[in-house]
Amino acid sequence: FGVLTGGAAAETYPSRVITMIVPFSAGGPTDTVSRLVAEAMSKDLGQQIVIENVGGAGGTLGAGRVAKADPDGYTLLLHHIGMSTSASLYRKLPYDTLNAFEYVGLVTDVPMTIVARANFEPADMKALVEYAKANKDKVTYANAGIGAASHLCGMLFMSKIETPLTTVPYKGTGPAMTDLVGGQVDLMCDQTTNTTNQIKGGKIKAYATTTKERLAALPDVPTAAEGGLTDFEVGIWHGIYAPKGTSPEIVAKLSASLQKALKDPNVVKRFADLGTVPSPDADATPEALKAKLTSEIARWAPVIKSAGVYAD
Ligand code: MLT
Repeated sequence: FGVLTGGAAAETYPSRVITMIVPFSAGGPTDTVSRLVAEAMSKDLGQQIVIENVGGAGGTLGAGRVAKADPDGYTLLLHHIGMSTSASLYRKLPYDTLNAFEYVGLVTDVPMTIVARANFEPADMKALVEYAKANKDKVTYANAGIGAASHLCGMLFMSKIETPLTTVPYKGTGPAMTDLVGGQVDLMCDQTTNTTNQIKGGKIKAYATTTKERLAALPDVPTAAEGGLTDFEVGIWHGIYAPKGTSPEIVAKLSASLQKALKDPNVVKRFADLGTVPSPDADATPEALKAKLTSEIARWAPVIKSAGVYAD
């Protein structure tokens, strides 16, 4: 029977269902991006890619699960900017961020929006900042745990307005959005993949986008700069990873499939409708993802250190 060598296994890869771990709850922005890209990659690879949501600890539980998985190409991770911020936020991570994964490629950039429950009193960003300062013990802010994109944006917002808000952590901003729409929590900074339709449906109030220019998908929402928050641009990049030791042939096959998926007109349109900015082709390479993760760890480390935020 012999054991299939790496090469032979790569030739027949994928010969069974692939699991893509999403380190946040179903129904949130990371889940949305994952299901979109997994559907397109499944068609190309001829095997189903099943999404498994492993939430908790701001995405580090799910990432840790993949770091320890067999490097056979059948367990993947789709994670975002939190992969880089968690490297500085957590004193004990269950994996070595820059040495526990192979890099498949960058997926897409997603802008963020500062949003609130529909009946939140402040009318605009200026009023929101005044209100937050005057009611700092009352205002609640939802995020998906330390290391989440919603945590990063909240940390930047609170340091910008020099006001700490009461944080309510969830396993993803899918469930957090349910509470925001229900009015159980006041404020959140979340990705347009999760907020665009709720804003358009009038279910939540939008104060700003974290982009240089207004978003075509949300033309009536001012940028943070228009609201007086300068240098407040946060773009949530996403990448696909495999456990360290996954064969280069399999990684190359996955990367080629990802690049093809990102050119799929249906994927391009659905990402655009959700306000995302797909990474240009070059970014979908393993080298570009490795460079992005490395540079983002270096970028956020001093910001996190000066904010004095960490998790044990
Ligand atoms: C985040 O805040 O990192 C994401 O919104 C989490 C999620 O995808 O639910």
